Amino acid sequence: MQRIKPLATILAEGSDGTKGLKRTLGPWSLTAMGIGAIIGTGIFVLTGVASATRAGPAITISFIVAGIVSAFAALCYAEVASKIPIAGSAYTYAYATVGEFLAWVVGWDLILEYALGAATVSIGWAGYFGNFLTAAFGITLPTMWTHNHWDPTPGIMNVPAAAIILVMTALLARGTRESGMVNNIIVTIKIAIVLFFIAVGIGHVNPANFHLPAGPTTGAGGYFPFGWQGVLGGAAFIFFAYIGFDAVSTSAEECKNPGRDLPFGIIMSLAVCTVLYIAVVAILNGMVPFNLLNVASPVAFAVLHVGLPSWMALVISLGAIAGLTTVLLVMMFGQSRVIFAMSRDGLIPQWFAAVHKTWRTPVFSTVFFGIFIATVAGFTPIGVVGSLTNMGTLAAFILTSLAVPVLRAKYPELTSGKGFSVPGGPYLIPIISAVVSFGLMVSLMFGSPSVPGTNIPLPWAGFIVWLLIGMVLYFVYGRRNSTVSTNGKVN
Ligand code: ALA
Repeated sequence: MQRIKPLATILAEGSDGTKGLKRTLGPWSLTAMGIGAIIGTGIFVLTGVASATRAGPAITISFIVAGIVSAFAALCYAEVASKIPIAGSAYTYAYATVGEFLAWVVGWDLILEYALGAATVSIGWAGYFGNFLTAAFGITLPTMWTHNHWDPTPGIMNVPAAAIILVMTALLARGTRESGMVNNIIVTIKIAIVLFFIAVGIGHVNPANFHLPAGPTTGAGGYFPFGWQGVLGGAAFIFFAYIGFDAVSTSAEECKNPGRDLPFGIIMSLAVCTVLYIAVVAILNGMVPFNLLNVASPVAFAVLHVGLPSWMALVISLGAIAGLTTVLLVMMFGQSRVIFAMSRDGLIPQWFAAVHKTWRTPVFSTVFFGIFIATVAGFTPIGVVGSLTNMGTLAAFILTSLAVPVLRAKYPELTSGKGFSVPGGPYLIPIISAVVSFGLMVSLMFGSPSVPGTNIPLPWAGFIVWLLIGMVLYFVYGRRNSTVSTNGKVN
């Protein structure tokens, strides 16, 4: 029998102003939070790799494909977030609809998304940071302390990646208000840098770069050098670039008017980023032959490649560092809020839900996961954590999409006419969303390494192992301690 957490209970918990979180966020803070989470390692770091090794110039089509998948999911997130405006995001939606076990699975997936996503971004951040130190001051950090054991140039630990995670942890522990303000400033810088790249790059597009001849590093040549598999594999890989709009929904309990502002923040942030991405990627591939783009900082590299002054590349690098910093901030914010919600429900120990008296933030869970993420960032390769992040996120997208029809059917009195509703009825968009998200999970196989000695793609193997660990924890701890069970409210 499935344990469903009654929606009335969920809503009552969130509106309890004395125990809850401070309500400070409006529609544009939420949009800024979304943009802060979205534009990051995906566009600044992974695009070049994906273009060079997976899709060629057709990476622009990959961005369109991944953008469409994200848009369907965003509509579903907008509906559930506006109707269940409670911290915890997809986890909470699943709890009220498809039941406790799947809610646990979603929560566990979100840990994968936010924690490993933050680790991925911090590794990208560390790369840009190292480049910047070298370009601006001629300082080169020792390889031993900037690489993990598995990197092509092996080291001991990526110290800058772990360090930036710990700095962000301190900022978040101190409170939303301060970190929200920092976020707004940096998001402005980030958008300015992206627009700057578009403005200076557009005049240097060479149409010949869209149709290179076939060759050892250019596949079959032309616009689709690696065919449709390349486009889909590229889409699954750079899907990472779109992750983040869903993080907006984790801040529901800190919104002034969640029913109206959450859908706005989710959809607006995704729309702005999609437009910027497509422009950046098309221009990038027009500036540089795609087979040269497999570099640590492709956007800055493109500027130098066409002979623009080096200060422009330095400015772009600085903007990227700032941009990646806000992605970290929002991902780690989302992380701590999901944990907060799961702990409040008794699925993980209660002390994770403790809110600090004056700062009104879940300090313990923020610090605990900060240390966990810093450890992962210090010792794991970027490709592994990035792919796993995509798997966890897409799995959460599927379950959130399916929550839409269940939510409407189960709670017609609480949901009809309230908040935002996806167009076309309860089935069409949610089902398309679930199917295309799954399609992207499958596409992640194209171009991903396999587990040594098998045909199983690494992202799938890692994801399945993660789910199995989660299930053991659920049956050993969560199921016995769940407040839904101890209150006797089993449906
Ligand atoms: N979308 C975020 C990024 O690209 C996670 O870094």
